[in-house]
Amino acid sequence: TLFAVLTVLCSYLFGAIPAAAWVARLRGVDIRTVGSGNSGATNVQRALGNGPGLLVAAFDILKGALAVLAAYGLDLGLPVMAACGVAAVIGHNFSPFLRFRGGKGVATTFGAVAALLPVAGLAFFVIFMATVWLTRFVSAGSILASVAAAFTAFLVGPEWLGAVVTALAALLIWQHRDNVGRLTAGNERRFGQKV
Ligand code: G3P
Repeated sequence: TLFAVLTVLCSYLFGAIPAAAWVARLRGVDIRTVGSGNSGATNVQRALGNGPGLLVAAFDILKGALAVLAAYGLDLGLPVMAACGVAAVIGHNFSPFLRFRGGKGVATTFGAVAALLPVAGLAFFVIFMATVWLTRFVSAGSILASVAAAFTAFLVGPEWLGAVVTALAALLIWQHRDNVGRLTAGNERRFGQKV
């Protein structure tokens, strides 16, 4: 229905709010020119420290979660809720406010998945934390967390929702193609590493 389509479109625009770029801009930094150049919480932490990094992470998680919960509140059903979560991630990664560039969708994917399937969100969180704790690579944590969320979604949710979370994981991994190159080359930045 038209109402559902409009809600998905609003989710895209909500997800497109470039918290990383705007928080950095407020502090006089062009996030595209520092660290990895990524408009994400990890790079804001790298450039500006823990406070701004956490703020951006929290906001970007909320974008995914609130997109799903808004659709829930409007009684739109699980498929439209999932579409709104995916739309928020696409908005984050391909934002009209950043000439259709953006971040890698880690926090927003986590927020959307946690709102859609809390157990899959928990798997994402545990694997992310464990991997970053052990390796200090946020990118590796993000990739492994998205795979863990996809597996968990297939275990606990309807098959189509497993497929949706798998598609989100595939998009997340594609957005990390530069990181994968650096990880294999051995020159990926560790968490907190400035250069
Ligand atoms: O938030 C994305 C993270 O997985 C990697 O970020 O800046 O190290 O490329 P970055």
